[in-house]
Amino acid sequence: MTLRAGIVGCGGISRSHAAAYAHLDGVELVALCDINRAALDERANEHGVAGRYGEYEEMFERERLDIVSVCTHAPLHTPVTLAAARAAVHVLCEKPLALDLEHADRMRAACESAGVQLAVSHQFRFTPLFRQAKEWIAAGRIGELRAIREVGKGRPAGFELMEMGVHYFDEMEFFLDGIEWVHAQVSYEGRAVGVEDIMPSRQLCPTDRRDNGLVAGDTMLVHLGAPHGAYGLMELYVRGSVHDWLMGPHLLGSEGQLMIKPHGGMDELWYCPSDVSFAAHTPPWELVARADQSDCQINGTAWPTRHSIWSVRDMVEAVRTGRKPELGGARALTSLECVSAVYESHFTGARVVLPMEDRRHPLGKRVVRT
Ligand SMILES: NC(=O)c1ccc[n+]([C@@H]2O[C@H](COP(=O)([O-])OP(=O)(O)OC[C@H]3O[C@@H](n4cnc5c(N)ncnc54)[C@H](O)[C@@H]3O)[C@@H](O)[C@H]2O)c1
Repeated sequence: MTLRAGIVGCGGISRSHAAAYAHLDGVELVALCDINRAALDERANEHGVAGRYGEYEEMFERERLDIVSVCTHAPLHTPVTLAAARAAVHVLCEKPLALDLEHADRMRAACESAGVQLAVSHQFRFTPLFRQAKEWIAAGRIGELRAIREVGKGRPAGFELMEMGVHYFDEMEFFLDGIEWVHAQVSYEGRAVGVEDIMPSRQLCPTDRRDNGLVAGDTMLVHLGAPHGAYGLMELYVRGSVHDWLMGPHLLGSEGQLMIKPHGGMDELWYCPSDVSFAAHTPPWELVARADQSDCQINGTAWPTRHSIWSVRDMVEAVRTGRKPELGGARALTSLECVSAVYESHFTGARVVLPMEDRRHPLGKRVVRT
């Protein structure tokens, strides 16, 4: 049976979801929805999609979809997912899953009681280079995995946390086999973030159009702990593009290191046979693999690591075979749990154990109280 797929939100990231449905076997893109007619028509025309809607409720009523990709900004992820669940449609939701854990819990409960899957789209973990790096670690090629490091793209940290930060948390969960606790410090303009520094994401990062709800801080150091004693470090701070985007992950083992880094639109996997790389001791790094080699292709095309086809493929396969998607169930919430834990840890000065008991927005509840 060919699955019927739809997309809500026809902006930037929908281009990748639409291309994914168009190139994967066993699924057909049959309907699109956007309140902006020009965006809707542009995406629909690219793939010859006949079903065009301005209201997602109407699309769910009429189209008998099997899967929907939710590609709007974060505030709409919850209402669109609840409507999809009412129509018994499986949901692949763009990151961040929701504005806070209360909303995420409602999405998960609605999908569970409707008997449909809810997964979040963190595509990196599904790519061949990430799988190869994980296999190398499991085979002991860098000794014992000690740590994983990530650095932001240079946007204010509170904004970046909901953008790249959630992807990084997912990478850490993938390589570390889980995240047990989070400890974080957040500052704004050179001092510790206070309640007065909580603001809408568009105010903190006016150059970016995305609405990620309440955020805080321009600088963050996040430290998290994993089941086997390994740890993750995430540094988010404002910086120019002069040194390019340093995106990792940078994986540090007792006998070597691995780094996945973007280059010319295709990721590369690099290896270094040393446990450290300080300035005074910079061992040679060796290129191990590139994302355009034949084993990194889907249906004859090399897809860049950041392309959503990797997470869409897992969701389509899950629905077709009746298994749970890899980023479904409780794991759909993990990256957002970490975001909440960052702020809770900063404001309480304590290590925060996951999953969090208090499901309220860690910033929203503090703004309301003042
Ligand atoms: N996984 C990734 O790597 C990745 C990359 C980029 C963006 N994203 C995420 O995807 C989401 C969308 O980001 P974007 O850059 O595509 O945003 P965008 O602004 O380009 O597109 C959002 C679209 O949603 C539409 N929209 C608004 N209200 C709507 C409604 N009620 N019904 C239907 N459509 C509606 C808008 O008209 C717009 O076309 C965000 O959550 C973002 O974080 C993920």
